[in-house]
Amino acid sequence: MNILILGSGGREHAFALKLSQSEKLSNLFVAPGNAGTANCATNLDIDPVDFAAVKAAVLENKVDMVIVGPEAPLVAGVHDFFLQDDDLKSIPVVGPKKDGAELEGSKEFSKKFMKRHAVPTAAYEAFTKETLEQGKAFLETLKAPYVLKADGLAAGKGVLILETLEEAKEELADMLTNNKFGEASSKVVIEEFLDGIELSVFVLTDGKSYKVLPSAKDYKRIGEGDTGLNTGGMGAISPVPFADEDFLSKVEERVVIPTVEGLQKDGIDYRGFIFIGLMNIDGNPFVIEYNVRMGDPETEVVIPRIESDLLDLFEGVASQTLDQKSFELTSKTATTVMTVAGGYPEAYEKGKVITGLDAVEGTTVFHAGTKINGDKVETNGGRVMAFTSLGDTMEEALEKSYKNIAKVSFEDMNYRKDIGFDLKNL
Ligand code: AMP
Ligand code: GLY
Repeated sequence: MNILILGSGGREHAFALKLSQSEKLSNLFVAPGNAGTANCATNLDIDPVDFAAVKAAVLENKVDMVIVGPEAPLVAGVHDFFLQDDDLKSIPVVGPKKDGAELEGSKEFSKKFMKRHAVPTAAYEAFTKETLEQGKAFLETLKAPYVLKADGLAAGKGVLILETLEEAKEELADMLTNNKFGEASSKVVIEEFLDGIELSVFVLTDGKSYKVLPSAKDYKRIGEGDTGLNTGGMGAISPVPFADEDFLSKVEERVVIPTVEGLQKDGIDYRGFIFIGLMNIDGNPFVIEYNVRMGDPETEVVIPRIESDLLDLFEGVASQTLDQKSFELTSKTATTVMTVAGGYPEAYEKGKVITGLDAVEGTTVFHAGTKINGDKVETNGGRVMAFTSLGDTMEEALEKSYKNIAKVSFEDMNYRKDIGFDLKNL
């Protein structure tokens, strides 16, 4: 089969490397890809939301299936575009249509969905400019800290957690009346604060059946000890030690099954990944959010733990035979540590030459923001490369990741030296 992956990050490199190992694969394309995907696939210089260009590439390269990495093309309707086009409608897309993508595209939609299908989540209400005063009154009924969420997509930055009622009221007004997050915050969800330990669980579904993929925990803050600004993710661990069998069976019964059945009941034919952000509160799972794609860098620890053929699983999604597909996982722990550009997540420079990659051993380097420039590999984004290792223990895997990071360098390279710090001795 010929496969096209849309996207350019570490997540897409992890998909590409795994698919490149499948016996069912003929040709693999990534659009636009990065310097890492160029080693296991053919990069196509196409913007994933330029659907006309995607169509031309699919037809020219006789692509048999499309795997969508990031949320933007899904929310923009790439799957619907394929179904509505006579030349493309027989080519399966792994990733939901616009209706399913609303689970990530609108916080209010996803909260209503959870309420309707009795999925445990924080109590909430949604407000607009017209109902600002009611919003302030609702805040008064809650206890600190206060959670405000821009309804729409805000590049992962649309959630504010405020310590005082005054700050919360000010920010609410700023979001609704001054469009702090643009159109995304013309509606704001206010919700109860969930106090627990965060983790993520991933599901692959064909709309009828599902596979629960490994759990993972990511490290979002730039600074050690989980301090400083939020980032796209500085590292991840899978499995999560506190997500034991008992907890995961609660996740399956209380969250995964009602979610997959809820989609069916709502008439949403969902084929793709569901990323479930969870809070573990005294051993009980509560959903913080859904994403309609895999996480990044979580993919870089989840996919390396899947021993089965990922292309075979994707075929199962396309033909709704996922329940018949073999799905084996390694019990080893996977760790990934992200190297980032100096300054990230604020202003940073690109185009720094990366050296030492040839010396890496026993660790897989998933490229995120990199590009090829002549015979050199250069940085091309804030998050640059994820160093993933497997080990019998988390400590062993982390040691490999850090040992290999030490062999690689680019100007102003930064990374967290404490990934997994909170999971030691659990
Ligand atoms: P989201 O974009 O919805 O994942 O929110 C971003 C982050 O804010 C989450 O990963 C949590 O760390 C935090 N968060 C979101 N909602 C809540 C909540 N209700 N209670 C506590 N923390 C939250
Ligand atoms: N690492 C978090 C995300 O992919 O949204």
